Amino acid sequence: MIRSVVRGNGAALPRRIMKNADFEGMVETSDEWIVQRTGIRQRHVAADDETTASLGEAAARAALDSAGMTPADIDLIILATSTPNNTFPATSVEIQNRLGMHHGFAFDLQAVCSGFVYAVATADLYIRGGLAKRVLVIGSETFSRILDWNDRSTCVLFGDGAGALILEAGEGAGAITDRGVLAASLRSDGVHKDKLFVDGGPSTTGTVGHLRMEGREVFKHAVGMITDVIEATFGEAGITAQDLDWFVPHQANKRIIDASAKKLGIAEQKVVVTVDLHGNTSAASVPLALAVAVADGRIKKGDLVLLEAMGGGFTWGAVLLRW
Ligand SMILES: CC(C)(COP(=O)(O)OP(=O)(O)OC[C@H]1O[C@@H](n2cnc3c(N)ncnc32)[C@H](O)[C@@H]1OP(=O)(O)O)[C@@H](O)C(=O)NCCC(=O)NCCS
Repeated sequence: MIRSVVRGNGAALPRRIMKNADFEGMVETSDEWIVQRTGIRQRHVAADDETTASLGEAAARAALDSAGMTPADIDLIILATSTPNNTFPATSVEIQNRLGMHHGFAFDLQAVCSGFVYAVATADLYIRGGLAKRVLVIGSETFSRILDWNDRSTCVLFGDGAGALILEAGEGAGAITDRGVLAASLRSDGVHKDKLFVDGGPSTTGTVGHLRMEGREVFKHAVGMITDVIEATFGEAGITAQDLDWFVPHQANKRIIDASAKKLGIAEQKVVVTVDLHGNTSAASVPLALAVAVADGRIKKGDLVLLEAMGGGFTWGAVLLRW
């Protein structure tokens, strides 16, 4: 059977690092509060010349380099983002152009923090359906542009960045030992729309708007939703938590990550945590975490890796793959 096999990955971060202490003169907060409640110590913040498209392009180029490919090898680009450069055209098409790629097709996918997990699952369907052979999957965000910098309950939580993955059609035996995407489960439920949203948009206010969140409400639902969708993915693949080599969760809050891993019985040393370095970078968080764990030698070819995310909507999902 056809499997969507990882050939390369990459990441890009804005030049400027903002430490927790840098907020202390802006809003009533402290490094101690932020670290204790979230595990975040710093985040990268985009300058005017750094955009979702430019960060996405840089991550894409890094992924192409690591795969030993050029843009000519790619048939499809899927960009997961909630902070596009413009309302339209799709920022993926802008990245396609920046890469000098004038064949194939590109589209944006919007599932907020679950965007990258949704995009990997979607790319897998294009590959297994025979509609694409090599897909460049990108998560790129500039949440700093939609934050209310006077709202201490949200502005300290998010950061900017991009990550990318290249998936290529390969042959598999249809077994759990195959390399590539092995199982995926996606969910959404709009009943939670008002718990995490942006209060503007082209069809309502005609403005970009700012991120609004009922943090406690999000927290309350997060662990249950995450563990449910992961258990569904384990069931589909016929594995248990013990079989995993690495758990690469969405990086929103260290307490949510720890509680989810504990409930699932995933050992602490198998959990990749980068929320301390990047904050919550929404659709970029999972590929940024992957990039760190691949670069430092933790994730290796043949490892069984579980990706998970949950975000605005709510949307949530999990992807199991063998690297
Ligand atoms: C936002 C979050 C960190 C807050 O932590 P919490 O333990 O739930 O804290 P609470 O909301 O109970 O707030 C406690 C107090 O801290 C205050 N507070 C909020 N932000 C603060 C900050 N940056 N610095 C200092 N105090 C802050 C609140 O105003 C509240 O004060 P009050 O008790 O006087 O009203 C937590 O709810 C969270 O992580 N939620 C999930 C968010 C998330 O992951 N979103 C993205 C999903 S993709």
